[in-house]
Amino acid sequence: VLRQSVKPNALKQNQRSWSFLQPQASYKVTILGAAGGIGQPLALLVKMSPLISALHLYDIANVKGVAADLSHCNTPSQVLDFTGASELADSLKGVDVVVIPAGVPRKPGMTRDDLFNINASIVKTLIEAVADNCPDAFIQIISNPVNSTVPIAAEVLKQKGVYDPKKLFGVTTLDVVRANTFVAQKKNLKLIDVDVPVVGGHAGITILPLLSKTKPSVSLSDEELQELTMRIQNAGTEVVEAKVGAGSATLSMAYAAARFVESSLRALDGDGDVYECCYIQSELTEIPFFASRVKLGRKGVEAVISSDLQGLTEYEEKALGALKPELKASIEKGIDFVHKQP
Ligand code: NAD
Ligand code: LMR
Repeated sequence: VLRQSVKPNALKQNQRSWSFLQPQASYKVTILGAAGGIGQPLALLVKMSPLISALHLYDIANVKGVAADLSHCNTPSQVLDFTGASELADSLKGVDVVVIPAGVPRKPGMTRDDLFNINASIVKTLIEAVADNCPDAFIQIISNPVNSTVPIAAEVLKQKGVYDPKKLFGVTTLDVVRANTFVAQKKNLKLIDVDVPVVGGHAGITILPLLSKTKPSVSLSDEELQELTMRIQNAGTEVVEAKVGAGSATLSMAYAAARFVESSLRALDGDGDVYECCYIQSELTEIPFFASRVKLGRKGVEAVISSDLQGLTEYEEKALGALKPELKASIEKGIDFVHKQP
C-alpha cells in the first residue's frame, strides 16, 4: 500500500529512507563460503539489507551456528543454513544473487595465483551447482585469484549452456574502497565525496587506479601518484603481512562486497542510477575479461563506461600496457583449467 502511494520520482529521491520503510523485502541471496573470515561479516552486513527476504548461508562446515546467531537480528530476511555438498543445490534454488567467498586465503609470501590449485576446483564445483539451480542469478566471485576464477566460472557456465556475461562479476569493489580511502587521506578530503575508478584486474600491477579520473579532481605530484598507485596495488599484501599468517582482508572485503550486493539489489529493484567497478567479460580492450566501471540494471551489466579509458595520462597508459600480458595469462590459465578437466 505504501509503495503504491509514493510517486516514482519521490521514490527515487528518497531511495534510502524509502528502502528502509519498505514493508516487503523480496530478494533472495546465497553466500557460498558463509562461515569463513569474509563470509561471516558479509552475512551480517547483508542481513541488514531491507531489500532481502531470504539469506541462505552455505559452507562445508560450521555454518549452523553462524546462521542461528544471525537469525536473532530483527531485520526482515529469514536466515537458512546449508551444510555440505548434499545441501548445496537447496541453498541455491530460486535465489537472485549468489556471492562466493569460498576458498583459501593467502599467507605472507604468497601471490594470489598461488591459491589457484585449491580455489580453481572449489569455484568450478560451486559454479556447476549455480548453473544447475539458479542460472539467472547475479554471480559475484570473491575467491582468488579473481583474474582466473571469473574466466573459470564463465567456461563452466558455457559448458552448461547458461552463460550470461552480463550477470557474472568478479568483485573488485575493495580496490575502489581502498583507492577512495587512501586518496581522501592523502588529500584531506571528505571520504564520502571521493570516487576513484579502478580498472584492469585484481592482483598486483593488474589493479590500475585511474587517479586522473578521481572525483572530485585531485592534483598529485609524480611522487604522490606513484606512491598512491603502489599502495592501492599492494593493499591486499599490506593486510596479509599485518595478519602474519592468519589470512587476508576479511572485514574491509565484507564491507566492499556488501556494497556490491546492495548496489546489485538496487539495480534489480529498478534504480536506474547504479554504477560500480567490477571484473567482467569485456570488449573495452583486447583483453577478454577486464574490470571497469559499469552501469548495473535489472539484467546485470547494462552499459560499460568506456569514457574512463579515454584521455588517460602517460603514466596510466604505460601501466595499462604493462598489466595486459599478466591479465591475459591469468585468464588463459583459468580457461585451460576447465578445458583440461576429465
Ligand atoms: P577463510 O578461509 O576464512 O574462509 C573461506 C571459507 O570457504 C571457509 O569457511 C571454508 O570452509 C569455505 N570453503 C572452503 N571450501 C569450500 C567449498 N568447497 N564450498 C563452500 N565453502 C568452502 O577465507 P577468507 O578470508 O574468507 O577468504 C576467502 C577467499 O576470498 C580467498 O580466496 C581470498 O583470497 C579471497 N579474497 C578476495 C578478495 C577480493 O577483493 N576479491 C578480498 C579478500 C579475500
Ligand atoms: C585483497 O585484495 O585483500 C584480496 O585479494 C586478498 C589478498 O590475498 O590480498
